[in-house]
Amino acid sequence: MLSEKVLSKICEKGILLFGCGGKMGHYYMEKLKNLGVNEAYIIGIDINSENLEKIRTKYPSAYYYSDWDGHITPACAIIAVNSTAHLPVIKECYAKKIEKIFIEKPLVYYQSELDELRKFDNSNLYVAHLINFSGIVKNLIEYAQRKNLVMVQAFSKWGKNWPGEKRIMGGDAEEELPHPLALILALANAINGDITIKDIVSHTSMIPHVQPEYLEGAKDLELDFPDKMNDSTLLGFNILTQSGSIPVHLSTSFNYCKQNRLVEISFRRADSESLIPTEKAYLEFDVNPFKEIFESLCYSTPIPLVKIEEEVRSFLNDGYADLLSGNRDRLLIIDAISNQTVLTNEYKGDKIQANLQAALEVLLGNGIDFRLTDFNQAKYLTSLIQKIIG
Ligand SMILES: NC(=O)c1ccc[n+]([C@@H]2O[C@H](COP(=O)([O-])OP(=O)(O)OC[C@H]3O[C@@H](n4cnc5c(N)ncnc54)[C@H](O)[C@@H]3O)[C@@H](O)[C@H]2O)c1
Repeated sequence: MLSEKVLSKICEKGILLFGCGGKMGHYYMEKLKNLGVNEAYIIGIDINSENLEKIRTKYPSAYYYSDWDGHITPACAIIAVNSTAHLPVIKECYAKKIEKIFIEKPLVYYQSELDELRKFDNSNLYVAHLINFSGIVKNLIEYAQRKNLVMVQAFSKWGKNWPGEKRIMGGDAEEELPHPLALILALANAINGDITIKDIVSHTSMIPHVQPEYLEGAKDLELDFPDKMNDSTLLGFNILTQSGSIPVHLSTSFNYCKQNRLVEISFRRADSESLIPTEKAYLEFDVNPFKEIFESLCYSTPIPLVKIEEEVRSFLNDGYADLLSGNRDRLLIIDAISNQTVLTNEYKGDKIQANLQAALEVLLGNGIDFRLTDFNQAKYLTSLIQKIIG
């Protein structure tokens, strides 16, 4: 639940949800309600009338508009529109005196968009990077601090088999890569302190992942959809920190055969000269143990996973259906010398909701939350991604 202070500000002035009819828009509507916000104080905006009708049917007591005339100034805005529309919607908010903004990642795609944003005071703008809100990230930082460890190396494999569907968004480097990148930078900052990035080497590929009919749809929406979309990125760089350099190796893609959300971190003792890792952490996000069992069956049979899942769904009643949707994040820490497990942890919480709650507490209450991504951090990520794409 949100604090009384935050809820009363929302009751008094309302809260705007741009892109309410989209996938993330639906999530935010649900999370706002879970956090104690009455539907009647939510104002949903979506330019797509079909999407607007769908959300209206689901949450009939909220107010809905296809554009926002600014007749009142709400307490804050949540922006969950397609990334290509982030800049115009932020500018629209500022023009209508809405200065407190929580926006989906990525902040913007291009350097030119960042330059436009620099003209404004963005001190009350936070970008959603939900992975930072997993309990296992907190566990890992606490563990490293307790054991006086610093990061010495980081790896990630991140992405999925994503055939574009109907959701219009940019390439892997703009949309998928930010997840592990933001996480590794946040960990390095929290554990080693004061980071600078050097020696970037990258390779991107352009194997299509969006079905042609959906690309046509994107043009109809008049979103500035990139003509050439990168599908996969291989990235290497060094993070220079107060406690030495951290080489990072990342691979992200929309064209993997299954979802991977893995990060591995090697640690050394902060008080030792030796770079040999003493502990290694394995972080997996949004894992479904039940699905894993079916995937292992899939690899030994020619039946596609989705078919098996459909069959199982048709057998399971509602109570058991949760098995299929109950994702969790898992942390494993091993002693790098003996290979023994020293810690395991699971997080089953809702990262979208935790991120939204933290942002609203900071924007409308008295909160401070180091896990939030502010404008400066988001700006840094955008510039870095632009350098990677070249
Ligand atoms: N954090 C995550 O894990 C995560 C996951 C998916 C998407 N996202 C981000 O969330 C954002 C939305 O993605 P999505 O998958 O929900 O997209 P979506 O296509 O499902 O929904 C976007 C909605 O925004 C509406 N819209 C577009 N321009 C608008 C405008 N100017 N004013 C009002 N409404 C407008 C569209 O009509 C659509 O209903 C993107 O920036 C995406 O990168 C983040």
